[in-house]
Amino acid sequence: MAHGYLEPGAWGRPHASASVWRMQHEQQVPPLTLEGRVALVTGGSGGIGRAIALALSAAGASVAIGYGANDAAAHQLAGQITAAGRRAAALSADLAYAAEVVRLAEETEDSFGPVDILVSNAGMARRQVLESIAVEDFDEILSVNLRAPFLLAQRLVPGMATRGFGRVLFMSSVAAFTGGIIGPHYAASKAGLHGLTHSLAARYATSGVTVNAIAPALITETGMVPDEDQELRRRVPVGRLGRPAEVADLALAVLRNPYLTSQVISVDGGIYPH
Ligand SMILES: NC(=O)c1ccc[n+]([C@@H]2O[C@H](COP(=O)([O-])OP(=O)(O)OC[C@H]3O[C@@H](n4cnc5c(N)ncnc54)[C@H](OP(=O)(O)O)[C@@H]3O)[C@@H](O)[C@H]2O)c1
Repeated sequence: MAHGYLEPGAWGRPHASASVWRMQHEQQVPPLTLEGRVALVTGGSGGIGRAIALALSAAGASVAIGYGANDAAAHQLAGQITAAGRRAAALSADLAYAAEVVRLAEETEDSFGPVDILVSNAGMARRQVLESIAVEDFDEILSVNLRAPFLLAQRLVPGMATRGFGRVLFMSSVAAFTGGIIGPHYAASKAGLHGLTHSLAARYATSGVTVNAIAPALITETGMVPDEDQELRRRVPVGRLGRPAEVADLALAVLRNPYLTSQVISVDGGIYPH
């Protein structure tokens, strides 16, 4: 008689005892730890990337901190992590250029070995309306926000699959769902990450590689939303802006979980859907 989802008899294994089957099966479930893993976090010089890098290092991962122009923030963060006894390196790359994206992946591997965790978090936002977006603006936003995550995944995910473990997390935005206030180029770049998420998740689901995205909104203490003001606060159902640590907390839960893949998860104070 079938007693529930976890009863082996229900899955057609009548000859194995429940306890023996359960032991064999549980051995196949990867541990929920990131200890000893190698992570690349792009945009580590910014608010959300910094919080995720700190959370990953606290969870025992070595962290490559990708950054663009903000040397001081990236090196301060790397110093803070290494002072706490963990491994970190600050690696600069302008993600608008494909060759620099590939170089960032290679330098991460040179520093720490094969990459287990890719957090494609770097992003740029230029507030513009449709009529004022030149083709160069569109191409730059798409290059940093969508092409670079694609190129990093293309370079790193096959190795993850070969080794049987990988985690990919893309940083989307509520704008992918609502259009948002920055502009159509930004919204389109973030929505593109959702297609990338689903495509890669399906391809690598049986290889131990999970691929997900997080869609935040109005996270302050970041370059994008430096200060909490009344006007912005009124847009958020919970009545305040979010904090990078709240995004990082969700990111770590997603990265730890081997059974969670192909998802886009919002952390937006209830903005969407509302
Ligand atoms: N804050 C929010 O409310 C919010 C909401 C939705 C989505 N997001 C997304 O969250 C992610 C992180 O943003 P944040 O809020 O933490 O803002 P942030 O503090 O401004 O961080 C942005 C990061 O992206 C990096 N970056 C930008 N252009 C780059 C380039 N061409 N090459 C390499 N790195 C580049 C920046 O590096 P440098 O400064 O070193 O150049 C910085 O580390 C972004 O993808 C953003 O779209 C944020």
